[in-house]
Amino acid sequence: MSAEIISGTQMRQEILAELEHEVKAMQEQHGTVPGLVTILVGENPASVSYVTLKVKTALSLGFHEVQDNQPEDISEQDLLALIEKYNNDPAIHGILVQLPLPKHINEDAVINAISPDKDVDGFHPVNLGKMVIGGDQVRYLPCTPAGIQEMIVRSGTETEGAEVVVVGRSNIVGKPISVMMGQKGPGANSTVTMVHTRTKDLAAHCQRADILIVAAGVPGLVKPEWIKPGATVIDVGVNRIGVSEETGKAILSGDVDFEAAKEIAGKITPVPGGVGPMTITMLMKNTVKSAWWHLQ
Ligand code: GUN
Repeated sequence: MSAEIISGTQMRQEILAELEHEVKAMQEQHGTVPGLVTILVGENPASVSYVTLKVKTALSLGFHEVQDNQPEDISEQDLLALIEKYNNDPAIHGILVQLPLPKHINEDAVINAISPDKDVDGFHPVNLGKMVIGGDQVRYLPCTPAGIQEMIVRSGTETEGAEVVVVGRSNIVGKPISVMMGQKGPGANSTVTMVHTRTKDLAAHCQRADILIVAAGVPGLVKPEWIKPGATVIDVGVNRIGVSEETGKAILSGDVDFEAAKEIAGKITPVPGGVGPMTITMLMKNTVKSAWWHLQ
């Protein structure tokens, strides 16, 4: 039987409708709306398209949105000064600096310069530390892992005591989602194994997974025979494997052989239209959260 498809596009609609409602309530009750600044350095085509979508989504929710585009050759010092300006701007609740940055700029210095209170990407070491501690300490969860967890929960997948296998150990996906699924609480309480390029028998680990989360950046890495029948499979891979002759747009593929895997999995996310739309949605959710916190 074919797996249930977990549609990020559909879940995005549901969550954005909830957020739109919250923004209206905030405006009515407090005369303010969430403020987000998107800082884009240079013109990397993928970054331009991500930022365009973030701006469009923020505007559709009624946010105060500042699109701050900077030239490729901006100095690190000037970029840090710009971030400091937004750290001190009371109309801005979330600061997003699109990554990657040009080579002459130290990304860590930039992430560290964003006030942890406005770090809606959840990349600042203070927020990552609070995420690891868990419970009441948690502030901003990084957007892609938060989107993955939301998809698991909203799809009705049982996480309590589930075997979760995470393929990949990046700072923005593999490491944080491994910690989050192992935390105490609803939507978590799982037993987590994180595997990576040095793992001896990748297939054997994946075959044990009730929930398989793949964020390796290798197209088609996960073969159908690695999937436990009935498992929930979350494919985080966004690999550009070519360009469509018809549309000129990039052809995307995930890290999982989707067509074959959907005949074995119980639930599966597609690429595109799976985790991708959820990342931007969680950025919006973090910005709304920040605006409420700043009102307190
Ligand atoms: N580049 C790719 N993904 C992201 C993201 O989630 N946030 C930021 N700031 N840059 C990115």
